[in-house]
Parts: sequence; C-alpha cells; structure tokens
Amino acid sequence: MSSLNGMEPNSYFIRTFGCQMNVHDSEHIAGLLEESGYSRASTPDKAEIIVFNTCSVRQSAEDRVWGNLSALRAGRASPIVAVCGCMAERYGNKIIERSQVVDIVFGLDTLKRLPELIHRSRNGSVCDLGDKNEATLDEVPSVHGRRLSAWVPVSYGCDNCCSFCVVPSVKGKERSRSPDAIIDEIKSLVGNGVIEVTLLGQNVNSYGRDLSPAMSFAEILRSVASVQRIRRVKFETSNPRDLTDDILEVMDQRPEVCEHLHLPVQSGSDRILEAMNRGHDRLYYIEKVRKARETIKDLVISTDIIVGFPGESEQDFRDTLDLVEAVGFDSAFIFKYSPRDGTPAARMKNEVNDQAKSERFLRLSKLQDQKTLQSLRRLLGRNVELMVEGPSRKGDYVVGRTRGNQVVLLPALDADADSLVMAKVQAVGRHAARGDVVEVLHAKCSSRSSGG
Ligand code: 5AD
Ligand code: SF4
Repeated sequence: MSSLNGMEPNSYFIRTFGCQMNVHDSEHIAGLLEESGYSRASTPDKAEIIVFNTCSVRQSAEDRVWGNLSALRAGRASPIVAVCGCMAERYGNKIIERSQVVDIVFGLDTLKRLPELIHRSRNGSVCDLGDKNEATLDEVPSVHGRRLSAWVPVSYGCDNCCSFCVVPSVKGKERSRSPDAIIDEIKSLVGNGVIEVTLLGQNVNSYGRDLSPAMSFAEILRSVASVQRIRRVKFETSNPRDLTDDILEVMDQRPEVCEHLHLPVQSGSDRILEAMNRGHDRLYYIEKVRKARETIKDLVISTDIIVGFPGESEQDFRDTLDLVEAVGFDSAFIFKYSPRDGTPAARMKNEVNDQAKSERFLRLSKLQDQKTLQSLRRLLGRNVELMVEGPSRKGDYVVGRTRGNQVVLLPALDADADSLVMAKVQAVGRHAARGDVVEVLHAKCSSRSSGG
C-alpha cells in the first residue's frame, strides 16, 4: 500500500555507517521498529522513517552523513528522519539545528523509547540521548540479516585513551555484558540455526574487568566455544596491550575459535606510538605477534594503521613500512589521520599536510597489497572452509570467508548465501582468492528472528 506522496505507511529504512558494532546495533533498531509495528520499506525512498546510524571516527564518515542529509532536503518526499550512533552522541541537538531535516536524535540508551520519540516528533524535533554510560541492548529484540552467522557484543564503550580516537568520548566507559546474558543469547541464536558468532567490542580483550567477580576474555571465549553446535567463534577488535597468553591458549586449544586476530598496530614508530598513547612500543607488538603465531597454527593477522599522525616524520613512516615488512600482515586497513575535535591529538602541533598523508597512504597500500597477495598465495591449491556471505559486488560470484577472514570468491551457481562449504582455492587476485566448491558442509534451514 502506498500513500499519496509515494511512501509506504509504517515503513522504515536504516542506513548504517561505520563499524560492525553499528551494523549490529542497526539489527536491534530494526527489531525494535518491527516489534512496534513497522516493516522494512521496499526501497529507501518509500520509507516513512529513515534512520541514520552514524560514525564519527573520521571526518570523511561524518561528511557522508551530512551529504546524505542534504540530499534528503532536496528530495520530494519528507520522511521522518532519525539520527543515532556516534554523531548523535557527539553533536546531539546541533544535528537538528544544522541539518533542518532531522526530526529525532536518539542514543543507544534511548533506543527503547524510539516509537515514543517518533510520536513526539510529529509536534517538533526531539533530541533524547539518555546516558551513554548506561546503554546496553540486552532487552531489545533484533532482526538478523544472516541466518548462520551473528554478531554478539561482549562489551560496549572503551576505557583506553588513544590520543587520536573519538570513540571513548562518544561510546562511554567500557561496560561488559554479563557472561549469562552473552551465553544465553548465543544459545538462543544457535537454537535458531546460527553456527558462527563474532564477539564484538571496541577492545574485546579487556572484557570482564568491570564485572564482579571479574572475569577474563579468555574465560568467556572458552565458554562461548563450549556452547553445543557452535562451529566458528570469531572476535574483534583485539588490543595488543590486553592480548594475554591465556587468550592465545584458548585459541589454540578450542577448534571452534577461528585462527584470526584483528590486532591494530596504528604505527611502527615508537615515537608515534607514544604520542598516540597506545601503551606499548614496536618491539612489544612484534613479540606479541611472534608469540601468537608460535601458539596458533595458520594464524591470520589483520591490522589498522594510521598514516600522517601529527609529527610523523619520513623516518617514523619508514618505521611503519619496516614493521609491515617485518610482520607480514595478511591484510590491513590503512587510514589517513583525521583530526577529531576534543581529542588530545587534535591539539598537537606539526600536522602532516594532506599531500604527504596521501603519498604515504599510497606507498603503504602498495607494500601491503604485496603482502596480502603473498598471504592469499599460501591458500593456493588448499581446501578451505568458507562461510558464504552473499553476492559479490561484481560478477557472478558469491563471497566466502575463511576462518581467518580472508575472502574467497565462488561461482554463484555453486554456493548459496548462508551456507558453510569446503572449497578448493584455484587462483588469487589482489584482494581475494577464487575457488570451487568441494563439499557443502552446512546449509541454512529456517528463517529466524530472536529477542536481544
Ligand atoms: N583518524 C584516522 N583513523 C582513525 N582511526 C581511529 N581514529 C582515527 C582518526 N582520528 C582508525 C584506527 C582504528 C580504526 C577503527 O580507525 O586505525 O583502529
Ligand atoms: Fe579508540 Fe583506542 Fe578505544 Fe580503539 S582502543 S576504540 S582506537 S581509544
């Protein structure tokens, strides 16, 4: 059914920016809206309510949201527009003042009140953020995008103070979910057919320190791996400082825990690591990786690196190149430093100019591309277990992920989205391998949605 201006009554559309945590939060936003009688719009332009779940980690992410909001102003229809996520926590009411199309700004803590806020917004824009340090989604229903895989947060917020990062100020202090809430959720997911979970947190490794009695990440990881019928357990993001040996031991001992670490290093220069307040130096990181590889067979390591941090000299940057050469990351996300107001780094002198940032970005990307290719080549001719996620962006392929999170493309006719297959790797490209299905290990069985 369509209304006069082409909108579908009581329909919603969610546009998600940023990290996996946001993708997961959006599943809860959808769950809450569906429980309140809304349904997903068939196309974004027919939605009566549009939710922007935003990211503030770099200026470019914020610019994309502002751009999307401006485009709405120019559009024909006038949906109810709601903004949540990092930009909401960061700017609050200022979003309403600046954009003029935003009706609702809400926080993770006030998500439960979204239906009421929608109602109130008919009389004028509302901003209700609640307390970010209290926000959890334990009681909120969710709609899962995929059937065999699910994201499960173990903690919210971050207690670290990396000098470049806006996350601690927008997501609040670290709050660990209770082990019971995590295990109950995973059991319920498994009951609905899930066989792979990815535990989420800004720093999963520091899980449980705020609980009483305190608990370690190694303990919760072991408990999750012990849930019956779970086949793959992944987690992100790890922090080198908190990646203790007992976590590596659980990874080695439990076959369910996948051989992958996302372990951001950010820089290879001791001087810059100190200015970033990362709490460790280069040698410590290299030693951690050595220990992890020695403990876990076939370990795949990915990382995040920032180029052009304030004061980064050519020599500092070469130290990063050198570290990337020495460690041989299987993949890396490389970012140009983006100053964030309110962070210590934004007040630092010696900003690196944009041209130098771009030049370093290209040099590092070129080196990492070689490393990624070398890593993928090691898969050639091997049989790998793949979770098939869905269609690839181009061509007649579907995207499969190894236990180490590497991408292997499969002919779309040979594998269904949401299945676990064994495939033989036949060729490698710059960022992905290509393979053929050898055996279907697990196919989806039923549709599902579950309580938070
Ligand atoms: N500028 C550039 N990259 C950043 N990141 C976090 N803050 C910034 C910033 N101000 C990167 C880090 C982090 C990843 C999620 O985003 O590498 O690990
Ligand atoms: Fe930001 Fe550092 Fe926390 Fe990661 S660990 S979210 S980079 S402050």
